[in-house]
Amino acid sequence: MHDSLFQPIQLGAIAAPNRVLMAPCTRTRAQDDFVPSAIMATYYAQRADAGLIISEATGISQEGLGTARAPGIWSKAQVEGWKPITEAVHKAGGRIVCQLWHMGRIVHPWFLGGEPPVSASATRLEEGKAHTPAGRFPYETARPLRIDEMPRIVEDYALATRNAREAGFDGVQLHAANGYLIDQFLRSSTNLRDDDYGGSAENRVRLLREVLEGIVSAWDAPHVSVRLSPNGDSQGADDPDPATLFAHAAQVVQDAGAAFLELRQPGPDGTYGSTTVPKQDAVIRAIYKGPLVLNSDYTAEDAAQDVASGRCDAVSWGRLYLSNPDLATRIRKGAPLAPNRGAPKTWYYPSEEGYTDYPTLEQEAAGAVA
Ligand SMILES: Cc1cc2nc3c(=O)[nH]c(=O)nc-3n(C[C@H](O)[C@H](O)[C@H](O)COP(=O)(O)O)c2cc1C
Repeated sequence: MHDSLFQPIQLGAIAAPNRVLMAPCTRTRAQDDFVPSAIMATYYAQRADAGLIISEATGISQEGLGTARAPGIWSKAQVEGWKPITEAVHKAGGRIVCQLWHMGRIVHPWFLGGEPPVSASATRLEEGKAHTPAGRFPYETARPLRIDEMPRIVEDYALATRNAREAGFDGVQLHAANGYLIDQFLRSSTNLRDDDYGGSAENRVRLLREVLEGIVSAWDAPHVSVRLSPNGDSQGADDPDPATLFAHAAQVVQDAGAAFLELRQPGPDGTYGSTTVPKQDAVIRAIYKGPLVLNSDYTAEDAAQDVASGRCDAVSWGRLYLSNPDLATRIRKGAPLAPNRGAPKTWYYPSEEGYTDYPTLEQEAAGAVA
């Protein structure tokens, strides 16, 4: 069934056997020092039937990571922790890229020895609270990055890229979506700068361009992809003219020769973020000529249709991949999908429950798992 999703596709250096991709999903199962844990190998290997797994967001530096038990990729111990995970995915026949994450202003000072987080400008996430091991606190106002710090930010991404390669990943994805550091520079609600990194759309994509060039130099373009969230508010990052801004961003991704571009685009009835701001994929596809991956609230039918019509080249799933470890197989066979579109407490629960205990079709048939 859904034949268009089961045509192989080349995503830069990666030969994906199908177009059912796993979207990046934070699961907070790492250890206290942001070192990946053994159970993460089981979890990712279970999902190896995806054309490609995009890992959970992974911190490029302590400055950029403010989620307890999320993994990092800046230290030797973290690289060693990732090795058995990439090995397990490969052994199971899969492919996995590492999503590179700097959270910018969303890092609480608790993680920074009391120092403020960094961002484009002195803004603060107003909604929600930061979860820290010491409790939940309001977010604090960021310190604007100085221009002389930009090369160091680029180098942090480059180091993380070299580390991802050493850890056995098949590539990296720059997380430029969802209101984190790069997105804080992209959008005008969080970028109030009046220097070369603020003001015009051309200036606001400058950090994206520099970081992408740094990552590409640290590996090569066919191993580098990008994620954007071009329509609507994401954690307080928003822009009144997304078509202009993301046309510039798409040009940056095109100029870098990135392996693929993934877009998280909720609709008005979105169940993981919703917005009435129109989806921007048509504008972006006219500029970025490589493989385009779309995401958010997809059914198998809609995904097959969007690939068949040429609207996109592949679709990524977040929540359905959490509850269906063999999602690609299930879609191909037209088998029922286990729902995961609420907000189960097990998303970020420190245990195997709701993590590695979802059965495959085969296990269900064998009655091995309830
Ligand atoms: C538990 C959970 C964790 C997530 N973590 C990330 C993340 O680390 N990086 C990211 O770019 N998006 C993250 N997302 C967003 C998903 O990648 C995806 O965009 C969203 O779930 C919508 O797709 P879906 O309808 O297929 O679930 C997360 C979503 C969920 C539900």
